[in-house]
Amino acid sequence: MQTITMIRPDDWHLHLRDGALLHETVPATARVFHRAVVMPNLVPPVTTVKAAMAYRERILAALPAAMTFQPLMTLYLTQTTSVDEIRAAAENPHVIGFKLYPAGATTNSSAGVTAVAEMGYVFEAMAEFGVPLLIHGEVTESHIDIFDREKVFIDRYLRHIVEQHPRLKVILEHITTADAADFVREARDGVAATITPQHLLMNRNDLLVGGVRPHNFCLPVLKRRSHQEALQQAAISGNPKFFLGTDSAPHARHKKEAACGCAGCYSAPAAIELYAEFFAQMDALDKLENFASRFGAEFYGFPLNTDTITLVKQEWTVPELIHADDEPFVPYWAGESLMWTLADSSN
Ligand code: NCD
Ligand code: ZN
Repeated sequence: MQTITMIRPDDWHLHLRDGALLHETVPATARVFHRAVVMPNLVPPVTTVKAAMAYRERILAALPAAMTFQPLMTLYLTQTTSVDEIRAAAENPHVIGFKLYPAGATTNSSAGVTAVAEMGYVFEAMAEFGVPLLIHGEVTESHIDIFDREKVFIDRYLRHIVEQHPRLKVILEHITTADAADFVREARDGVAATITPQHLLMNRNDLLVGGVRPHNFCLPVLKRRSHQEALQQAAISGNPKFFLGTDSAPHARHKKEAACGCAGCYSAPAAIELYAEFFAQMDALDKLENFASRFGAEFYGFPLNTDTITLVKQEWTVPELIHADDEPFVPYWAGESLMWTLADSSN
């Protein structure tokens, strides 16, 4: 039987949510990943180190005793984030960085940044204290086409941020376009991107052809095939600026299958298996370990994980439904098969 044994991976972009749902989301990620960068878009958002530490405790309380897992907390940047909070974040080993959501860009982002151009002092303080900036890179103006919002964000804001703050570590999260892949590739050192499984495995046809597919709806929205291909090439290129970030983001079924359905794909129950499916499709399984287990850790300055996971070539089907917090959730890829199964995990 064909197997792949690789350094245990980390997830550099993840939504765990809160409350009882943590009993589903935390083990679903910890079964595979040793570390995960936990997004702060709760209601209310996690804007202080104090709130992040309380959230971290709730996450760890939901971790089964037999598993090890290290949540790396992010703070939600607002228009009023203070330099003192940035300093406190820099001094706290459990906080990995600040997340910039343009206000209104995505789920639970209404408290986000309203004027990116006025945040220079914040970015400067982050650069000085060595705190990374994680970015949801989309503009939000209603007159800008949703398929263009990532490119406009890059041209209008990101180029400037990266040039004005040469020591600032910047991660463009969940990239979806050739423009973003090109930008990151050509940018200075200290600029990187995460790529989700859905943006590697799908394009906007998978959202709209034959009927609307709410479970494939996430933000930034899936783009046309040529953009998907650019992301695919970036992921298998071996360029360390591109690494794994699932953006796994559960929403209960009734919130996805609705007249105004939520954005977010719950991929954690099959995360590494989905990436393996993609790398296998591209005949690039030899590139999976660096993308999943090395480049992110190196970018953020963490040691590589010391244990391994093993994937076995054995077909399985992602469950149609997962019950959590008294509600049904439809995972990403529900009812579809995957070629690689997690065989062995010391977790
Ligand atoms: C995320 C969520 O649901 O929190 N949704 C999504 O479509 N990706 C938020 C985000 O990362 O944009
Ligand atoms: Zn996200």
